[in-house]
Amino acid sequence: MQVSYQERQAGEIACTTVMPTRPVPGMVEDIRESLLKQPRSISPKYFYDERGSELFDQICSTPEYYPTRTENNILDRYAKKIIDKTRPDQILELGSGYSTKTRHLFDACEFVNHNCGYAPFDVCEEVLIDSAVKLTEEYQWLELNPLLGDYHAGLGNLPLIHANRLFVFLGSTIGNFEENNALKFIAELSNIMKPGDYLLLGADRVKENKVLHAAYNDAEGITAEFNLNVLRVINRELDANFNLDEFTHSASFNTTKNRIEMRLISNMNQDVEINEMNESIHFEQGDDILTEISQKYTYEGIEGMLAAANLTTIDHFEDDKAYFSLILAGK
Ligand code: SAH
Ligand code: AVI
Repeated sequence: MQVSYQERQAGEIACTTVMPTRPVPGMVEDIRESLLKQPRSISPKYFYDERGSELFDQICSTPEYYPTRTENNILDRYAKKIIDKTRPDQILELGSGYSTKTRHLFDACEFVNHNCGYAPFDVCEEVLIDSAVKLTEEYQWLELNPLLGDYHAGLGNLPLIHANRLFVFLGSTIGNFEENNALKFIAELSNIMKPGDYLLLGADRVKENKVLHAAYNDAEGITAEFNLNVLRVINRELDANFNLDEFTHSASFNTTKNRIEMRLISNMNQDVEINEMNESIHFEQGDDILTEISQKYTYEGIEGMLAAANLTTIDHFEDDKAYFSLILAGK
């Protein structure tokens, strides 16, 4: 029998809300500042409602989207080494999603008979609860503390623990931050790390345009659906009337900035009402909304960012094709 999200939420598993350490704009203010101004954009955090998270999960299984597969293989190969080195009392994962790849770290803990807790931190409550239900079944020894919040609101209110933590930030989600914000974020993380804490960071590498283009334009159109889903989120949350059929997914590699830029392009001249804000947006045919950037890094670039954040690279793992980096860094 399928158990609904509400039933699960009412059950044993509850999320701890991480309070902001600095004010972040609510959705209305955020959309006013980004979508109603030129150049138009929408923060990628709005992709991840329950459906958006599921679509991202499906993207991860497309043949074109190499990052998940590649990072998964690196983790499979090096998880034991990472756990042996770090021996964490708790693994705290930022933007944990379905925690799929993290299972390699739990398996490694089992293998070396090391007990630790797990604190997945995500903005999507449905996914946190779904994952926690499954993890509880799969790893009965794993003490879980799901954390619900927005990491852009600061990390100062993460629950304190007097023990060693392995912070994990996988999937190259760091690439979804503007470049200077990525460094600020890693520096903020570094500031809350104590000696004995570690960071495991996944970062996607610069590569041939053809491979990158395919990864963000899969043949089945799942990435397009994921991109368009953000309009569905705005329709629902802000009582707007975006017609999803009148926008087209676009993703291209910006070779100057070494990043994928994902956009939604208006198919026609149209007006969209955002009733909750009493606003109307006019789009000419071809006008676009930037919905996501996905920065690609060089080997030196990632290590430079970590060093600038006062972190020391301990191990820099990569796959045979040097498509993806997994870096273990310490204070
Ligand atoms: N770590 C997983 C999921 C990556 S998808 C992997 O590597 O496959 C990005 C994840 O970050 C999603 O689960 C999304 O809900 C979460 N996320 C996005 N913006 C966030 C924010 N501002 N604060 C917390 N989590 C966020
Ligand atoms: C979560 N993030 C790292 C993904 C990426 O590759 O930038 C999100 C994504 N967007 C389109 N495909 C996947």
